[in-house]
Amino acid sequence: MRNIKDRKEIVIGLLGLGVVGSGVAQAILERKDGLAGRVGCPLRLQRVLVRHPDKPRAVSLDTGLLTTSADEVLNNPEVDIVVELMGGEDPALPYARRALTSGKHLVTANKEVMAKHGPELVSLAQSKGVELRYEASVGGGIPLIGPFMGDLAANRISAVHGIINGTTNYILSRMAAEGLDFNIALKAAQELGYAEADPTNDVDGKDAAYKLAILATLAFNTRVRPEDVYREGIRRLTERDFRYAGELGYAIKLLAIAKEREGAVEVRVHPALVPQESLLAKVSGAYNAVQVEGDLVGQVIFYGLGAGSRPTTSAVVADVLAIARRLYQGIGPVPRPTQDTGRAIAPISRLSARYYLRMVVADRPGVLAQISRVLGDLSISIASVIQMEADEVSGTAELVLMTRPALEESLQQALREMQDLGAVTEIASFIRVEA
Ligand SMILES: NC(=O)c1ccc[n+]([C@@H]2O[C@H](COP(=O)([O-])OP(=O)(O)OC[C@H]3O[C@@H](n4cnc5c(N)ncnc54)[C@H](OP(=O)(O)O)[C@@H]3O)[C@@H](O)[C@H]2O)c1
Repeated sequence: MRNIKDRKEIVIGLLGLGVVGSGVAQAILERKDGLAGRVGCPLRLQRVLVRHPDKPRAVSLDTGLLTTSADEVLNNPEVDIVVELMGGEDPALPYARRALTSGKHLVTANKEVMAKHGPELVSLAQSKGVELRYEASVGGGIPLIGPFMGDLAANRISAVHGIINGTTNYILSRMAAEGLDFNIALKAAQELGYAEADPTNDVDGKDAAYKLAILATLAFNTRVRPEDVYREGIRRLTERDFRYAGELGYAIKLLAIAKEREGAVEVRVHPALVPQESLLAKVSGAYNAVQVEGDLVGQVIFYGLGAGSRPTTSAVVADVLAIARRLYQGIGPVPRPTQDTGRAIAPISRLSARYYLRMVVADRPGVLAQISRVLGDLSISIASVIQMEADEVSGTAELVLMTRPALEESLQQALREMQDLGAVTEIASFIRVEA
């Protein structure tokens, strides 16, 4: 470890100069004096890895800093901190491993790499005596990783409920406010740059599952992998569901939920009905929010912009500063708790929840009795039934049912049995209710 007096500067190597990388480079260059004041010495951007050096950039940078050779960052003995802002798994993961193995500190915003390989990289960093920080990987500019590791560390966390994908929240907000169909709201999100041309990762809940795996791993000190997360996306929601949910006093949100259940951890991402008066129901547009329940702190909520160049830059540069400050002061890395208490993942089949069901049925007497019998035989009680609309031409009616708490496996069995009733034309939607 070098002495404080020896440190004239902290040297940064950047991997990627896209939406976030440009913001980070700009902040390091334009806020030079302020950042130096916080660290004790200046930060210097030494090399920036890109694919296309001639591409126009959102930041004006000495083009001599750009390189297409990863070695110029990863093998550069001057570089203290590597900041990985390329995205994707390959080559970001091998580059992250190389940076840590060669004794460089690492900051990353990469949720895919951290969700799939976070614990391995954290161990590697620890074994090499360097820091790995990843605040921007979840919730953009909203502080979440830091609070879980630090401010909330004394708590036993019992639940995390989050809206952690801005794209889907934007789409759902437009569907709710304007009665738009999913495809039209998606197109609007794409035109405004909120959704990518291939929206799969967002609308099918994959992005939220990565982020939830990262948060749940921290919250419960156990390894939660992306594939452990039960996942449903938002494609099958319709304008009707928003209308009926609204009449029942609920909003529909894509929730990421991690909860303790009988010693195991329940992790799921799916659309959910939330009471209109709840804080999460009020999170609209591209905003994110994460509500945490701890035994000491009670309920806390984090709210803000979960993506975008500037909010994400805020989190990345804060991580760089935290490492740079310790480097300047000659202090070793922050010790991390062991990340595996080996808790089981609770199966979705044993979830107990209330459910909203919308179905199209034959408009004739006795149909409701048949449906009630199927549900009753599986110990599912109906809390309310509303006949929303009848279609005289087809002789069908739309029924909306709300159940009392029931086991998921029973509910799934009931759905199968109801589909076999001649009187049920279609089970159009089923959505879990989160109170
Ligand atoms: N955008 C956000 O709002 C946001 C929010 C939170 C977290 N993040 C995370 O931040 C990371 C960066 O996202 P972004 O939106 O800034 O991505 P981006 O705009 O696509 O930028 C990626 C950058 O990495 C470079 N790059 C990619 N693959 C490379 C390779 N094989 N070799 C060399 N350079 C390569 C690209 O070079 P060229 O420019 O030359 O093509 C580009 O500069 C991702 O992990 C993302 O999940 C993003």
